[in-house]
Amino acid sequence: IALFLVGSSLAQISINNGDEQQIYRSQFPQGFFFGTSTSSYQALLLLHLLEIFIISSLFLRFCISTQCIQIEGAYLEDGKGLSNWDVFTHIPGNIQNNENGDFADDHYHRYLDDIEMMHSLGVNAYRFSISWARILPRGRFGNVNLKGIEFYNKIIDSLLIRGIEPFVTIFHWDMPQILEDTYGGWLNHLIQEDFVHFATICFKEFGDRVKHWMTLNEANLLAEFSYLTGQFPPSHCSPPFGNCSVGNSNVEPLIAMHNMLMSHAKAADIYHNDFQEKQGGLIGIVVNAFMYEPFRDDEEVDREAVNRALAFNVAWMLDPLVYGEYPAEMRQYLGLDLPRFSDKEKELIRGSLDFIGLNHYSTLYAKDCIYSACPAGSDHPIKGFLTTITERDGIPIGEPTGLKKVSVVPRGMKKIVDYLKERYNNMPTFVTENGYSPKIKQNEQGQYMLQDVDRIKFHKAYLAALASAMREGADVRGYFIWSLLDNFEWRHGYSIRFGLYHVDRISNSLQRDPKLSATWFTSFLTNTTFFN
Ligand code: NOJ
Repeated sequence: IALFLVGSSLAQISINNGDEQQIYRSQFPQGFFFGTSTSSYQALLLLHLLEIFIISSLFLRFCISTQCIQIEGAYLEDGKGLSNWDVFTHIPGNIQNNENGDFADDHYHRYLDDIEMMHSLGVNAYRFSISWARILPRGRFGNVNLKGIEFYNKIIDSLLIRGIEPFVTIFHWDMPQILEDTYGGWLNHLIQEDFVHFATICFKEFGDRVKHWMTLNEANLLAEFSYLTGQFPPSHCSPPFGNCSVGNSNVEPLIAMHNMLMSHAKAADIYHNDFQEKQGGLIGIVVNAFMYEPFRDDEEVDREAVNRALAFNVAWMLDPLVYGEYPAEMRQYLGLDLPRFSDKEKELIRGSLDFIGLNHYSTLYAKDCIYSACPAGSDHPIKGFLTTITERDGIPIGEPTGLKKVSVVPRGMKKIVDYLKERYNNMPTFVTENGYSPKIKQNEQGQYMLQDVDRIKFHKAYLAALASAMREGADVRGYFIWSLLDNFEWRHGYSIRFGLYHVDRISNSLQRDPKLSATWFTSFLTNTTFFN
């Protein structure tokens, strides 16, 4: 995410010669899903500040087995509990401009209008996530919040009436705070049972109509940002990374990932055994996958760094789900720090995916740090002894953000799809996110943001690269633009706008206005001419 800041000073993005092509809907199969993606914390109305204040001052006694623990009792009018992001965003300094998702896009109250908007956009699919704390305010230790079930039923039914297929992410980073407080969230293996409980409720309540489930969104990025660099809750850092006092072991990201993967495996097992036949759906997971290229083409060591980068980021998540083992490269460098799957776990996890959800935004250069000099930290085993860089000849870049800069590299889309095709035997894949966002400066509000020609160029070029991978046989079945609406972009608050629709935050009306890219997308989907 942080990597994907494109300087607004660039009037236009330039795309490498040959990358920009004409692209037509007819280049994709019939029945291909074209949609937009959002997530619960980023788009919904969640809480009012006052409520958070009142609720966080209520402490209830609460017992697990024989042990009683003091926890926050998070009950609200609509029954939703506090999530880890509700708490994190209210700590001053955590989010740019101290913004939060209390109101976000108020999709909670405007969902009907938003679904009408999607219908007029012309999409046949919508990917959204379910707020865990809205369904289970107290995790598996409390009741199901029926109002939460009702809300998602209304969304699903309204989508289907409009001919829009719901793609549901069960966990997109927001979890009941109570799970963090009681036993440390993803660091504790007990979380696996919580997740399975939550997922099973989702299958039972919504599975008659939801045919595409994604258990976890970007577990790889979450493990890194929550436990290595400390940018996401619970803000743990692993030395020498990040700048926070909590967390003192660089195995934390590995443990969190292990628990997330086993949570997926157990939930998928239940889905496959108890629901799939009756409901006829598929279950997958979503991986954050940058593509990598060697920083120095002629250096064998950088080519190896590319392989390690892919192994330590992408295969870290997907190899266990397909083959039941962490990638050999990680085992080699991390040794005993890397958790192991017991025989029973292996049996559960191997083959637990029906499809891969691919979130792809950009391409980075990988530079070896075993034999080459690199910035401090990059020679660490957990990073795979490499560093990533985005600037090199001919590659259009945005504003520098430290070492990392943004690249708009459409060919990366084809390369990453090819990589997945090769490594995972052409498993069905959905591009669950692809998106472009300029960093908005204070004075660039309003009309300016509606003329988003760069976003159109970006999507055309990435779609063309995707189509070319598919012509060579990649089994890709859908493409989702991040995002339908400008929304809460995690650490960056509302300063980064990925939406096809502009959301007016100046007047606070939260009015939605189509950007030029929304008009283009409709013309693409309906094969009509687009005049810019
Ligand atoms: C990845 C995440 O899934 C999503 O929540 C985020 O907003 C986008 N990428 C853009 O950074």
